[in-house]
Amino acid sequence: MTAPLRVGIVGCGNVALNFHVPAYQAEPDRFTITALADPTPERLELGRSTTGLSPDQVHSDALALIARDDVDVVDVCTPQHLHRDLAVAAAAAGKHILCEKPLAAAPADAAAMVKAAEQAQVVLGVVHNYLFFPEIVAARTLIDDGAIGEVRTVTVDMLGVVDSPGAAGYRPQWRHDPAAAGGGVLMDMLHGVYLGEHLLGEPVERVSAYVDAATPGDAVEGLALCRLESSCRAALVNIGWGFGPGGIRINGSKGRIVLRYRDEGTIPWAPFESLSLTTEAGTEILDLPPGQELVPLVATALQATVADFADAVTTGRAPVAPGRAALHTLEATVAAYTSAALGESVGIPLPVDGPVHRRGVIGLAELDVPAASSVRASGLFGLAADSSSTDLPTDGS
Ligand SMILES: NC(=O)c1ccc[n+]([C@@H]2O[C@H](COP(=O)([O-])OP(=O)(O)OC[C@H]3O[C@@H](n4cnc5c(N)ncnc54)[C@H](O)[C@@H]3O)[C@@H](O)[C@H]2O)c1
Repeated sequence: MTAPLRVGIVGCGNVALNFHVPAYQAEPDRFTITALADPTPERLELGRSTTGLSPDQVHSDALALIARDDVDVVDVCTPQHLHRDLAVAAAAAGKHILCEKPLAAAPADAAAMVKAAEQAQVVLGVVHNYLFFPEIVAARTLIDDGAIGEVRTVTVDMLGVVDSPGAAGYRPQWRHDPAAAGGGVLMDMLHGVYLGEHLLGEPVERVSAYVDAATPGDAVEGLALCRLESSCRAALVNIGWGFGPGGIRINGSKGRIVLRYRDEGTIPWAPFESLSLTTEAGTEILDLPPGQELVPLVATALQATVADFADAVTTGRAPVAPGRAALHTLEATVAAYTSAALGESVGIPLPVDGPVHRRGVIGLAELDVPAASSVRASGLFGLAADSSSTDLPTDGS
């Protein structure tokens, strides 16, 4: 048996304490949490008491954690605009990195993280945890087994997303700040983007989208309707805060797969209900374990994510969601915002010297967004409604 991986968790917010800590603690032979970092005193103390670490194992400065000799893995659980500097510092210190999604708020930041990890020859894995949901694994296996022939279209509806605030002691509204979050509901739930691509089975090459604010005056979108095109297939990914419907449909040349959730709701808030496979032979409902409520479902998927990451570190194989794949997912997401603002489809990869690659959604202010654009008209992402000048929101909340 090899020694447990020694994990330092950066950011003691909701996702870290509710899901990452329990996932590591569930496998003491594979992981031991040796350090925590968070500049928010009450979150750091909550993390310390939750993990039982001693005061000398917790740090207000993440760089002190990264410098520790007893940390093999840096687990980055801060909001996404902070991921780059932490991951680049961790790579420079020779630490493997597990990073929460989205990999960064801007593609250039994500690309810098990928480059730093590759240069340092450390593993960079990203928490694309919905890939481990049992019905997603079952659907992908059916596709791989040829059950529906060639995939033609995928529809991912997640229109009933719950708008959860961030940690109270930090900045509860950071998800509504385009500079911090890199977008609104679509960026927060880019799970739908990688699920769409995963089920298509081909890399997305072009994106068209419509986005809208949930409430007039919001700085980020609360609704995003996206069409992701690969070389000869397409996924429709529809994500919104509110009460809209959820569910996933995969249409193939010889059949279809439909995933349903309670009350036609949205994963992971509505538990999985059924997977039906329809072919010329008729419709069958697959025998899968009953769907779980949100907390146990995400907890199980986080355990699978950290186990996959540990295998990647110890065997040298790539994790299920390596940094480069997560960069691609982020580019597709940022391309959706660009498409919605410009009113035209956008190819990926994005030009590396362009403003949205460099700065993400706040870079839209440097593009020639038409006066008639609904994104400009609603003042999303700091775009001024009445002229080409900009009025970016402040970073504080
Ligand atoms: N994979 C998932 O299912 C999932 C679910 C929720 C959140 N997330 C992601 O996890 C990340 C964090 O989200 P959250 O909901 O936990 O946010 P949160 O607001 O609950 O917590 C953020 C924490 O980061 C800390 N922090 C801020 N700056 C820091 C720094 N420089 N060093 C260390 N810590 C710092 C804050 O003090 C706070 O405790 C985001 O990227 C989010 O998208 C992923």
